[in-house]
Amino acid sequence: MKYNFLGNTGLVVSELCFGTMTFGGSGGIWEAIGKIKQDGVNDLMKVVVDSGINFIDTANVYSYGESETLLGQSIKDLGIDRNELVIATKVRGRMGQGQNNVGLSRYHIFQSVDASLKRLQMDHIDVLYVHGVDPKTPVEEIMRSLNDIVLTGKVRYIAVCNWPAWMVMKALGIADKNGWNKFVGMQYYYSLSSRDIEREIVPVAIDQNLAVFPWSPLAGGFLSGKYTRATEKAGDSRRDIFDFPPVNKAKAYDIIDVMAEIGKAQNVSVAEIALAWVRLQKGITSTIIGAKNADQLNANIKSTTVELSADDLKKLDDVSALTKEYPGWMVERQGADRAIKS
Ligand SMILES: NC(=O)c1ccc[n+]([C@@H]2O[C@H](COP(=O)([O-])OP(=O)(O)OC[C@H]3O[C@@H](n4cnc5c(N)ncnc54)[C@H](OP(=O)(O)O)[C@@H]3O)[C@@H](O)[C@H]2O)c1
Repeated sequence: MKYNFLGNTGLVVSELCFGTMTFGGSGGIWEAIGKIKQDGVNDLMKVVVDSGINFIDTANVYSYGESETLLGQSIKDLGIDRNELVIATKVRGRMGQGQNNVGLSRYHIFQSVDASLKRLQMDHIDVLYVHGVDPKTPVEEIMRSLNDIVLTGKVRYIAVCNWPAWMVMKALGIADKNGWNKFVGMQYYYSLSSRDIEREIVPVAIDQNLAVFPWSPLAGGFLSGKYTRATEKAGDSRRDIFDFPPVNKAKAYDIIDVMAEIGKAQNVSVAEIALAWVRLQKGITSTIIGAKNADQLNANIKSTTVELSADDLKKLDDVSALTKEYPGWMVERQGADRAIKS
């Protein structure tokens, strides 16, 4: 396992992060995503720690807190030194029926962090993400509250998921002006079938020296190799019931064809090629992998040993390229005449 600095911090994380969205399975969409209970969680966590992965991702909303509870208990059961791990969780999603059991108000951020710590059986969270946009809470309130929660010692670093680039820049500016803690990383959906973050998000991360953590690098399993034009349902697979994140399937099948050809030449699975591609892209710090069992987890960990040649990368780039969008194409066109003439 290789390790990277997390953005502009001194914190070191493994190039794979283990996502725990498959833990629990209590109700709603969570049942489709994964129903792994304590024994299964402990088995997966042992594989994770033995592989050298030190970065674990959960969220308050995953199975309504059950994922955090199972993760915290597994660390105790396995006798893992909590201080060898970087534990990330999130706040934003609805955690109860009350008016204030949701969002990024100061009230909910403080209440949610206390509840997460209790479920995790920990005294601090290493990385707290805002899990998405709260259209009702002013960005000033969010950033001041995040700064204050860091000052309590309950949270070490703050980071962001799923916000538009302009809002991230606004938040960084407000935090900078006030001398508050700033986001250190960005967690966004990124896979060969969804390269949208290359337009605005990755450029912000590179410019601001923020870490990038791709989620759903297999597009929720769609890019694992088990879905083909002939096999639209894989059986006992979450996408059969919960078709998320959105995928342009016609385009994805073309991408899968190219991955299968490259995988065959290297004798590795389509899933490994998909994960290797994400790992090798510009600005990527740690790819958040998901797994429903140890076989999947081991295959996904093995992807860190897969290398892609310039020719492989070009083939994958060509078949998965984004369509040009304005103002991107105009920026590219106008930037061309700023090259130094030889
Ligand atoms: N911040 C956010 O908004 C956000 C959103 C989503 C996820 N996340 C984070 O990102 C993590 C990963 O997301 P994800 O679970 O969607 O990742 P993913 O890698 O796109 O999908 C994982 C799923 O694909 C299938 N799979 C995985 N490896 C496989 C393999 N080698 N062969 C065949 N099938 C395989 C499994 O489901 P089946 O067996 O059921 O097909 C597994 O649960 C989550 O756990 C969570 O921590 C964050």
